[in-house]
Amino acid sequence: MGEQGIIGFHDVYKSFGENHVLRGINFDVLPGDVHFILGHSGAGKSVLIKQLVGLLKPDSGQIVFDGEDITAYSEKQFTNLRKRCQFVFQHSTLFDSRSVLENIAMPVRKRFGLGRKEANDAAIDALTKVNAEKYVDVLPTQLGHGLRKRIAIARAIALKPEVVLYDEPTTGLDPVNARRTDRLIRDLADRLKITSVVVSHDLISLRSIADRVTFLNGGFVAFEGRAMEFVRNDDPIIHQFVHHARIGAN
Ligand SMILES: Nc1ncnc2c1ncn2[C@@H]1O[C@H](COP(=O)(O)OP(=O)(O)O)[C@@H](O)[C@H]1O
Ligand SMILES: [Mg+2]
Repeated sequence: MGEQGIIGFHDVYKSFGENHVLRGINFDVLPGDVHFILGHSGAGKSVLIKQLVGLLKPDSGQIVFDGEDITAYSEKQFTNLRKRCQFVFQHSTLFDSRSVLENIAMPVRKRFGLGRKEANDAAIDALTKVNAEKYVDVLPTQLGHGLRKRIAIARAIALKPEVVLYDEPTTGLDPVNARRTDRLIRDLADRLKITSVVVSHDLISLRSIADRVTFLNGGFVAFEGRAMEFVRNDDPIIHQFVHHARIGAN
């Protein structure tokens, strides 16, 4: 491949009892890429990326982040790593009783040890980047699903990560909000140089914003390569996925 990956999975295995979810996963994510992880529901996509931030541990194999083996990291080391690698969960993790501004400013204050004014400014800056600055005083419960997703993304980028992991960012969104979220992910990757790992089965997203794709099937990497080569691939399993996947299905 030539270029050094910022993330590397080397022979990663993960089972839950007799459920052998990951059976020898190998691939790299290159810095600056928007890298999609595709696969049917239950293929192990979420399990795979949760291992990157220490929410799950592989049974064997090695996971590398920025040249360092993180497989045996302690909880404290993962806490540090999560500052550099933010996870945007599929379901909202915003505090519903706090304003949009506070949802972002609180972790910023904690992360950078800033005063209230500086943290609020940083939060507004992040909200501006996702085009949601006018919602500072609103409670998340008053917002639609698409906006909540953008606020969650603003909170992630306010912490100045090098990598953002997006778990099903467009699932459950209407088409307008889904496409807007796509553009936002691409835009943040380009402008802020954020390496973006996108777990998805949204083929419209894939076609419009992905650089590379890893396709998981049956616990294995069934395809790894450029997005355009994936959609044109005539391997029957990939063809079936590309042409029959229910877009936005979970
Ligand atoms: N914490 C867990 N305990 C037991 N089984 C799990 C756990 N997390 C995921 N699984 C199982 O692992 C498989 C892959 O799940 P997941 O990674 O969530 O799939 P998806 O590709 O849809 O994100 C599923 O069969 C799921 O039931
Ligand atoms: Mg999942």
